[in-house]
Amino acid sequence: MRIALIGYGKMGHQIEQVVIERGHEIVSIIDVNNTIDFDSPAFKSADVAIEFSTPASAIENYRKCFAAHIPVVAGTTGWLEHLDEVKTACIDGKQTFFYASNYSLGVNIFFALNEYLARIMNKYPDYNVKMEEIHHIHKLDAPSGTAITLAEDIVKNLDRKKNWSLEKENKASDIAIHCIREGEVPGIHEIVYESEVDTISIKHDAISRKGFALGAVVAAEFIKDKRGFLGMSDLLKF
Ligand SMILES: NC(=O)c1ccc[n+]([C@@H]2O[C@H](COP(=O)([O-])OP(=O)(O)OC[C@H]3O[C@@H](n4cnc5c(N)ncnc54)[C@H](O)[C@@H]3O)[C@@H](O)[C@H]2O)c1
Repeated sequence: MRIALIGYGKMGHQIEQVVIERGHEIVSIIDVNNTIDFDSPAFKSADVAIEFSTPASAIENYRKCFAAHIPVVAGTTGWLEHLDEVKTACIDGKQTFFYASNYSLGVNIFFALNEYLARIMNKYPDYNVKMEEIHHIHKLDAPSGTAITLAEDIVKNLDRKKNWSLEKENKASDIAIHCIREGEVPGIHEIVYESEVDTISIKHDAISRKGFALGAVVAAEFIKDKRGFLGMSDLLKF
């Protein structure tokens, strides 16, 4: 498969390795200083583009992929306020867009576990739920896209929670999210249910970025000949 990489930072470099390991070809690498290459024949020859850049650049990059009719695997987080706009552009333009707040298989298993636990907890009102997420100091968004997905999945499944908020703005019907930025941590998410008598917690700890990169390349293989607005629930059937 011919792959274009958009964003050549920590994730772009990790994805490049996985792309090569899985026998695909990188035909174009676009970063902040060569965005003119969106107009190049090399970029236009890609079967799929994998985009991990910044919240400020992602939307424009998706638009350029749609204009070139190149399916996009979108990894950048922190742009979800534009989700409806991107979805409409994808569907109306008959394009292909795959988004996951987290591409790692382990995190997606964790998402399923989180939803299951939240459903059980409807019967046990003595437990309050909170979340902690820890990432490296370079991360631009807080809470993480993964933390937002976890919180939204709890809201969907646990009737007594209506929203999430950063810890300091917390209301009883909110899930408090405590965000920590330290060192070079790839990503830790922990959901904690506390009662007066005990604590139940589930935790995902990413050891490296390779799990995210592998998931993104598997998603690229999956969307090559598909159309529409897709996500991990289309790829992974638990
Ligand atoms: N969905 C997931 O599974 C997942 C996993 C890890 C990281 N992320 C997200 O991916 C994004 C990138 O993460 P990272 O750790 O590689 O960050 P990074 O800062 O290491 O890399 C970002 C790159 O984007 C480049 N860039 C800036 N403007 C650009 C533009 N207009 N066009 C193309 N490239 C541009 C920067 O120069 C940089 O090289 C972040 O939003 C992060 O939260 C998502």
